[in-house]
Formats: sequence, structure tokens, C-alpha cells
Amino acid sequence: MNSDSKFWDRHAARYAKSPISDEDSYQQKLKITREYLRPDMELLEFGCGTGSTALVHAPLVKHIRATDISLKMIEIARAKANAQRVTNVDFEVAAIDDLNNPDETYDAVLGLSILHLLEDRDAAISRVRAMLKPGGVFVSSTACLGDTMKFFKLIGPLGKFFGLLPVIRVFTVQDLVASLTHGGFEIEHQWQPGKGKSVFIVARKPA
Ligand SMILES: C[S@@+](CC[C@H](N)C(=O)[O-])C[C@H]1O[C@@H](n2cnc3c(N)ncnc32)[C@H](O)[C@@H]1O
Repeated sequence: MNSDSKFWDRHAARYAKSPISDEDSYQQKLKITREYLRPDMELLEFGCGTGSTALVHAPLVKHIRATDISLKMIEIARAKANAQRVTNVDFEVAAIDDLNNPDETYDAVLGLSILHLLEDRDAAISRVRAMLKPGGVFVSSTACLGDTMKFFKLIGPLGKFFGLLPVIRVFTVQDLVASLTHGGFEIEHQWQPGKGKSVFIVARKPA
């Protein structure tokens, strides 16, 4: 199991209670995502946290497999699904690297506020591409700290060493777009609500 799971377990309860930092942008991202969803779709969300986004999209698709490395996050997500009587989302403890399923399973994969938290985003992007059906979409929202907070390259590893931060990779929007295009995706939609804000990208695996 990924060593960051303990970090996220410790922060799960607080994460669940904290308000979304930019509600308007979040709603806009949900709206754009919805335009890609159809009732017969199989979705995967990795790094789903406490499951809020999966539960919002659940009525619009056939089924969602929502995964996270943190058991505590998943426990909160399952409790929310029960309370909302949502039955077509399966929450599961798993790291993106450990997902083991036949290739070309999903119509869409969501990775929200997660790509910058992975040791190897290129490996994750390659994994996502393999799991998507031809013509499927990868919807991501990513903090690109290399554009505005390069100093994080120095303090990030220190924070990680002292257990105060999870892995945080520092890269630019340009780096991320390059990872996606080199990884075999076509960028279909790219939106950054403002300087320093997470970039929202819908990337398609060619049919
Ligand atoms: C910043 S939170 C984002 C949660 C949710 N996607 C959201 O937008 O609110 C990052 C989440 O990714 C999970 N995570 C971190 N590394 C992961 C990995 N390698 N595989 C799967 N999940 C991971 C953490 O446990 C945490 O719940």
C-alpha cells in the first residue's frame, strides 16, 4: 500500500468537512463533465476522496467504480452513498497503480485533484489510457504548481519527510498537456479558472 494512505487517512475527516475552495469553478467543472456522460456509461474515478463528485454524477451513468488509497476516505464515501441511497457506485480502496482490470473497460475516467499527488503521472496516464475504451475520455483537474509556486519543489520534499505533506509533484500546465499528448490523448477541452487555479482538462483517447 502507498505510504501516502496514512497521510490521507489522518486528514479524511477534516477533508470531508472542509468547504470546496472555489464553488463556482467546481460547479462549472461538473457541468462540463456532465456533457460527456450518458446513461449506459461505465466510469472509473481514481483518487475519489470522500466520493462527493462520484455521487453527483451517479444518476447520469450506469455504474461508477470509485477508488482511493485511503480507507478512511472510502468509509466516509460509502456512508454518504448509503445516506443518499445511491446504489450504482462501488467505492474501493486501491491505488491507481494497483488497479487490476481488463483493458478498455471504461467510457470515462475521472482523476480530480490527484495527478500532482502521484509519484509518476506519466505511468498513471498510460494506465488510464489502457483502461479506457477507444473514444473514451479522461477528465482531470490538476494543480500545476510549476506555474506559480516553483518553490514547492524545495519545501514539498521537506514537508513529506516530516509527514506534514503527501507527495506533491511540481509541474506546469504545459508539462501536463505534454504528458497527456505524449501519452496518446487528444486534448478536447482545457480550462483554467484563473492564475494559480487547477487546470481542468478533458482528453480523449482516439477511437
Ligand atoms: C486532494 S484529494 C482529492 C479528492 C477528490 N478527488 C476531490 O476532488 O475532492 C486527493 C485524494 O487522492 C487520494 N490518493 C493519493 N494518492 C493516490 C493514489 N496513488 N491512488 C489513488 N488515490 C490516491 C488521496 O487519498 C485523496 O483522497
